[in-house]
Amino acid sequence: SKPFTVLGIETSCDDTGVAVVESTGKILGESIASQAGIHENFGGIVPGLAKEAHAANIQATIADALDKAGMDVRDVDAIAVTVGPGLEICLRVGCEAAKTLAIAHSKPFVGVHHLEAHILMSRLNSSLEFPFLSLLVSGGHCQLLRCDGIGSYEVIGGTLDDSLGEAYDKVARMLNLPVGGGGGPAVEALAKNGDPSVVKLPIPMQHRKDCDFSFAGLKNAFRMAVNKMKEIRGLEEGGDLAEQDKADLAASFQNVAIKHLEQRLKLAISNTKRDTPAIDKLVVVGGVAANKAIRESLSNICEANEWDFFVPEARLCTDNGVMAAWAGIEKINCNISDVPTTQEVFARYP
Ligand code: KG4
Ligand code: ZN
Repeated sequence: SKPFTVLGIETSCDDTGVAVVESTGKILGESIASQAGIHENFGGIVPGLAKEAHAANIQATIADALDKAGMDVRDVDAIAVTVGPGLEICLRVGCEAAKTLAIAHSKPFVGVHHLEAHILMSRLNSSLEFPFLSLLVSGGHCQLLRCDGIGSYEVIGGTLDDSLGEAYDKVARMLNLPVGGGGGPAVEALAKNGDPSVVKLPIPMQHRKDCDFSFAGLKNAFRMAVNKMKEIRGLEEGGDLAEQDKADLAASFQNVAIKHLEQRLKLAISNTKRDTPAIDKLVVVGGVAANKAIRESLSNICEANEWDFFVPEARLCTDNGVMAAWAGIEKINCNISDVPTTQEVFARYP
C-alpha cells in the first residue's frame, strides 16, 4: 500500500514531543520542548508547572516538527496522540491540540497508549515481528510483558514499589547530580569511572523466584551507603562527596540494578520456554533503555540464550513525538482509529 504520514503528539509527562513520521519508518520531522530546569528544585515533576509548560510550547513544537518535515498540517494523513497513562492535566494539553487539528482538517485520529508506544519503538526500522518479550523500564514503569500483537500484551512481571527510572533519579539527587530531564544519564556517566566493589549493596528479591521487581530496598540501602561514606570522610549530611566516592557509589548502584534485571530476565526466559507460541526475542524499551551498560548486559544474556535482542536508538528510548506517531502508524495498519470528538485522556490506562 501507498506510504502515509502521521503527526504524533506526546505530552504525558514533562516533555512536549511532536513528530511527523512516514509509514515506511522514515522520520520526516521531529521537535521536542524539554522541561529540564523547570522542575529542578522541586524533588520531582510538578504537574501544574508541567501542564503550563506544555500549554506554552505545544503550538510552536507542532509548527517546528511540520516545518522540519517541510509540510503543512493539511499534508499529513492522520493525527496520533498519547492519551494515557500519565499526568492527566498534561495529557489533556496534547489531546486537545490533536483533536482540534483532526477536526479542523478532517483527519483520521488515533489515541495511543504511552507504554504501547514505547514498546512499538522496537519495531521502527527493524525486522522485529511478534511475538516477543518486552522489558519496559522508564520513569513511571518497570514491567516484563509478553507481546503477541498490536493491542495484545500480557504483563508477566511488574514492580512492587518504585520504577528503575525513579531509582536512578533518586540516586542522582542523593549524589547532588544534575537531574534536569531525568538523573539517569548523569548516574550512568559517573558510574563509568567508579569501582562497583567499593560499596556493597544488596541485590533485591533474592527469595522470590518470579518476574517481579523491587527498587525501594536498594534505594534505601543506597541512602545509607551515601551517609556512611560521608561519615567516613568526616562530612556533614548536607556535605558533598568527592568525585571518586560518588563514582564508586554510582557504579555500585548501577551494578546491582543490572544484576536484578538480569536475574528477572533469566527467569522470564526460562518461564517462556514452555509458552506457545514460543518466544525467542527480547526488546528493551523506555527511558532507562538508553543506558549503555544495561543494553550491553541484557544483550549478552540474550546471546547466551540464543535469543534475538532489539533496542531502539538511545535518543528514541526517552519520551518523544516519534513514538506517538509510530504507534499511530502501527494501529492504522491494523485498521484501528478513534473518534476525536469523544476522545478522553486516562491518567491510569491499563
Ligand atoms: O520513558 P521516559 O522518558 O519517561 C517515562 O515514561 O517515564 O523515562 C524517563 C526515565 C527517567 O527516570 C530517566 O532518569 C531515565 O528514564 N533515563 C535513564 C537514562 N536515560 C534516561 N536511566 C538510566 N540511564 C540512562 N542513560
Ligand atoms: Zn515514557
